[in-house]
Amino acid sequence: MNSGTFYAIGVGPGDPELMTLKAVRLLRESPCIYVPTSRLSTQTWVADVVNTYAADAANICSVSFSLGTDRQMRQEHWQQTASNIISQLLQGKDVAFVSLGDPLLYSTCIYLLRALQKQWPQVPIEIIPGISAYAHCAALTNFAVGEGTQPVTILPTMTAINDLQSAINKGGTLVLMKIGRHLQEIVDLLADNNLIDQSVFIARAGLPDQRIETNLRCLYGADPGVGNLAIILIHTNTEYI
Ligand SMILES: C[S@@+](CC[C@H](N)C(=O)[O-])C[C@H]1O[C@@H](n2cnc3c(N)ncnc32)[C@H](O)[C@@H]1O
Repeated sequence: MNSGTFYAIGVGPGDPELMTLKAVRLLRESPCIYVPTSRLSTQTWVADVVNTYAADAANICSVSFSLGTDRQMRQEHWQQTASNIISQLLQGKDVAFVSLGDPLLYSTCIYLLRALQKQWPQVPIEIIPGISAYAHCAALTNFAVGEGTQPVTILPTMTAINDLQSAINKGGTLVLMKIGRHLQEIVDLLADNNLIDQSVFIARAGLPDQRIETNLRCLYGADPGVGNLAIILIHTNTEYI
């Protein structure tokens, strides 16, 4: 019997119309769909998208993000999920795993892909790219991400806040993701570097409570939760503005 294929499907940043035709087709056809769930429940819309497109007979499994800081526990969690998926693939069933945005950009799907390949190096996989959140945020604000010779730096601020000043010094465009509780610190640093007027803030792009701020001064003293599911785009040079 032929084994099934593992599909890592990017479902875009939140607007259901920003999904690829291939993602929609595969969700409709998949007999088994894994949906990552987070205790922050910022991704409930991912589950909504799956419920919209999945066939009635599809088996939908929630898989916890396992956000703990214990590296070994996280690895064991993904190894266990991988081993469940492999047993389904070996029965000839296709398995899909959905990812917010693109599956290969700061996505939990990367851990799962590694775990699958560790247990079965030749595991049949197909990765379906999705529209990344930063691309949607740029489109919503008409913000040119890469232009001319300018470099583009994507920074996961939650873990790399200390690298922000050196990224600013490097120049070009900065894309700050995973902002969370660092929002105030970031706004202060942008003010210190005279970059407030060259930055835009977009939260929950494409979702009903989307928020866009082109004047980041209004974020001084904002509720700490405002930085969740948000992106800041910064032009550090004025040459191309
Ligand atoms: C775990 S990463 C996932 C990134 C995703 N794989 C992608 O390609 O965009 C989560 C981060 O993506 C950003 N993000 C995802 N969806 C977003 C949205 N709808 N609006 C704004 N930012 C979003 C936020 O910075 C959030 O902290």
